[in-house]
Amino acid sequence: MKFFVDTAEIAEIAELNDLGMVDGVTTNPSLIMKSGRDILEVTKEICDLIDGPVSAEVVAVEADDMIAEGRKLAKIAENITVKVPLTWAGLKACKVLSGEGNMVNVTLCFSANQALIAAKAGATFISPFIGRLDDINIDGMDLIADIRTIYDNYDFGTEILAASIRSVNHMSDAALLGADVATAPPNVIKKLAEHPLTDKGLAAFLSDWKKTGQKIL
Ligand code: E4P
Repeated sequence: MKFFVDTAEIAEIAELNDLGMVDGVTTNPSLIMKSGRDILEVTKEICDLIDGPVSAEVVAVEADDMIAEGRKLAKIAENITVKVPLTWAGLKACKVLSGEGNMVNVTLCFSANQALIAAKAGATFISPFIGRLDDINIDGMDLIADIRTIYDNYDFGTEILAASIRSVNHMSDAALLGADVATAPPNVIKKLAEHPLTDKGLAAFLSDWKKTGQKIL
């Protein structure tokens, strides 16, 4: 499973990228707002740092305006993925922008039918929002499983990008269900390395080592 980082914070992306953990980056208007940066400038910086796809989201609501914004965003760098919302206008924009050779991430997906129609419109990535479904007591992982089945049934090439990931369990569940990509905030990616038995075991090893009086260096 590929790891995308869901942030527009350059320092956080760079730290994970140094460890080879970053296959791509996703941003959205809220993350740009949080960063306090200009969208074109910060997106360019991210693209310079990362080789993989960097999602930058349109904010227009009409298809023609989304297409114009998408074309402008796509000019930032070769690895830009234009992100469009899963609305009828977004699907029209997806069809045109992907037809022009751009990667397109169709976002705000909450149903299997939405994922099906996004694949038909030529989406490179579909972004089902796990956490936001969990927020309303619907198991977001069922949606990942359904989309996996549908895409495999018909050999759709659209990649399933599990989004709105809030916990380490979301990451492992998405991987078990065969999501192609998961995008997660940096703190969730870092937590994947944690286990209380690792901490406990290490503390015991270090305490015993001290008793030997030895040094390796
Ligand atoms: C994905 O592309 C979105 O930016 C993101 O995963 C949304 O996550 P949230 O529901 O935690 O805001």
